[in-house]
Amino acid sequence: MVIRVKTTRRKVFEHEAPARVVAVLGGQLSEEGRWLDSQMDGALSKFLKKTRFSGEFGEHAIYATDEVEVVFFSLGKRRGHTLEQVRAAGVRLARLAARLNSRDVVVENFLADRFGKKEASYALAEGLFLGAYSFDKYKSNPARLRRNFVIAQGFGPAVDKARLVSEGVYLARDLVNEPPNVLTPVELARRAEALAAEAGLEVNVFGPEKIQELGMGAYWAVAKGSDNEPRFIELVYKPEEAAAGHLALVGKGLTFDTGGYSLKPTASMTTMKGDMAGAAAVIGAMKVIAALKPPVEVRAYVAAAENMISGHAYRVDDVLTAYNGKTIEVLNTDAEGRLTLADALAYASEKKPAALVELSTLTGSCVVALGRQIAGLFSEDEPLARELARAAEEAGEKVWQMPMEPAYKRLLKSEVADVKNVGSREGGAIQAALFLAEFASAPFVHLDIAGPAFAGNAEDNPNGPAGGTGFGVRTLVRWVERHA
Ligand code: BES
Ligand code: ZN
Ligand code: ZN
Repeated sequence: MVIRVKTTRRKVFEHEAPARVVAVLGGQLSEEGRWLDSQMDGALSKFLKKTRFSGEFGEHAIYATDEVEVVFFSLGKRRGHTLEQVRAAGVRLARLAARLNSRDVVVENFLADRFGKKEASYALAEGLFLGAYSFDKYKSNPARLRRNFVIAQGFGPAVDKARLVSEGVYLARDLVNEPPNVLTPVELARRAEALAAEAGLEVNVFGPEKIQELGMGAYWAVAKGSDNEPRFIELVYKPEEAAAGHLALVGKGLTFDTGGYSLKPTASMTTMKGDMAGAAAVIGAMKVIAALKPPVEVRAYVAAAENMISGHAYRVDDVLTAYNGKTIEVLNTDAEGRLTLADALAYASEKKPAALVELSTLTGSCVVALGRQIAGLFSEDEPLARELARAAEEAGEKVWQMPMEPAYKRLLKSEVADVKNVGSREGGAIQAALFLAEFASAPFVHLDIAGPAFAGNAEDNPNGPAGGTGFGVRTLVRWVERHA
């Protein structure tokens, strides 16, 4: 759906639009709804009585005549609301709007009396944008819907910001949704370069020679099995006024993960085009950061590769030397993400960032632990972990902190090398995080987004359709903004 969102100072009943949306709280019309009702001689309250709203969040009904369509949207009970509900209402409204005949829709600024015009407008607009997303590039006959929303008594700059942030989420979703035959590592680098040119970021891209020359032996081992060349991507945002220090973001960028010789069964291999969702989140966040221009330098790194089988693919039993000199015994070629990340983290650490945040679709184990809507947060730096948890909470993305149990470190001890790339099956997500920490030498947070990054069906994505969710973009943007 092509969606526009604007604001007006007027109230819902004052704004001439063929479709209007009013809130229902505890089964009762909102104040805006009551104004509209009296303008319509009580038609709405009469209709609402008949529909018998139970007062549950998300319930809705449409009152339609030849002239108007009025959507009733239940925000649940009278009290105890959260901004997250306003966002969720926006998501649902964007989808509901497809069922309206009218293109122009005026919406009450939900719960503005409770949260203020600014915060309420932001949450509603963000929900509308996120919910309106679709990926139909490869459809011969895409549905070409257009909806123009106007938020009554809304705050314009908040809507503008929601639009910018959503554009970063859209970019991340698009990158994840692209099929792997199109979005190869080379293509991912091209898109990063296109973003850099458009948004005014610095960009550096390395190919196979440079990757080997730098000594990124773990990353190269994963990459060399594919005919699609790897690309190491660095994006840099510099604030107008030079600032001391910088923040670093790293994203896992496997454009496809077959598992390598530790081959995945077909059912696990489908959706593995989404194994670059960490990279997508980081690139999407950089787009937003370039637009918001916070006063802090941010560097993003992606070691893009494809995990394939061939005569030059890496094997189990191989021993690799990472960028920081540590040696790794390969026991499973499907634990490839941590190998590419080992080099990316060591490389990013070398520039001495004040903090290093990494996102990856790293383990099935984390999906087993936390399910499809919650990311695992791992850190040995408690204050930094709390910063990220808070940013995620404010952004409306669910994360849960997991332990970096030191006793499990011994599970990664190798007979022949410094570490091995897999330990035991139990606590797999924790071991993966402990492995990564061996290669990060700056204050470090790892987010395992294997669950929430990709939705197999729309039910798994609270903020949009099936496919890439863009998870992480909003958390990263919040965090960078707060840090600045
Ligand atoms: N890309 C996968 C992890 C994954 C699983 C992402 C499910 C999204 C959904 C990763 O490279 C992988 O295969 N991890 C292995 C690690 C194991 C071999 C230690 C896993 O989780 O099975
Ligand atoms: Zn894998
Ligand atoms: Zn993977």
